[in-house]
Amino acid sequence: MITRIAQISDSHLSVEKPFFRSNFDLVAIHLRDTAPDIVINTGDLALDGADHDADLVEARAAHAGLGLECHVLPGNHDVGDHLDVARRQPVNAERLARYRRIIGPDIWSLEISGWTLLGLNALTLGLDLDEGRQDGLIRNAVAALAGRSLAIFLHKPLADLSHNEDLTSNRFMTAGPRQHLASLLEGAVPALVASGHVHQYRDSRFGGSRHVWAPATSFMISDPWQPGYGAKMVGYLMHEFHADGGHRLEVVGVRDLVHHDLVAFPEAYGDVRAWGPGKA
Ligand SMILES: [Fe+2]
Ligand SMILES: [Fe+2]
Repeated sequence: MITRIAQISDSHLSVEKPFFRSNFDLVAIHLRDTAPDIVINTGDLALDGADHDADLVEARAAHAGLGLECHVLPGNHDVGDHLDVARRQPVNAERLARYRRIIGPDIWSLEISGWTLLGLNALTLGLDLDEGRQDGLIRNAVAALAGRSLAIFLHKPLADLSHNEDLTSNRFMTAGPRQHLASLLEGAVPALVASGHVHQYRDSRFGGSRHVWAPATSFMISDPWQPGYGAKMVGYLMHEFHADGGHRLEVVGVRDLVHHDLVAFPEAYGDVRAWGPGKA
């Protein structure tokens, strides 16, 4: 038994600023043709859902239009950024309530043959913003593993290269939330940690887990404005989860997808070049 799961990420959809919609629509056609069992979007569904209901409404409609079983997760542009690193739009109760009202649950757990998939909210991990709901979900999922393998999906990578690093960067989870997650896992080691957010594809291993970054469907950010950690590209990932705990992964390029560079879209988030090299 194999469960095929397409992981898309960072769609950055907006009614007012529909720059990245045509790429999403090409991916949507490809997904409908490929017919995976499940589609997961690892966040930044909307271009500015943290402040605009309409962008979240647009993202909801676009995902409903896939006509496939779809589970999505919030990104920093959907609910605001984690308080450890937030500059302009911190996550707060109002933003979370808006996300839940328009999109739905911001955390979830799914059981498929041989695996438990845990969808987490990277922007609230370790914060006291949801009456312990996320902590409870993680604890319960781990307690009920019963020999199944564990895969975690969340917006931001857990770390760059190691669980022990202490970077304060909005590119990765910071040490506090990462340690909080580790304590909730109580020794369970996820076979897979799948994230988005960096708008680059990468596949690495540390701490006993495979860490995979999905490319965005929307855009990448060129050198030198964003450091190269992996492959700067747009596309999506196709995961195969096997009932015996096996896992295979394919990077999918879609014909006619445009490798947009955020530098060419100052109307989206401002002039990336003005932030300086390595800051985007
Ligand atoms: Fe993004
Ligand atoms: Fe993001």
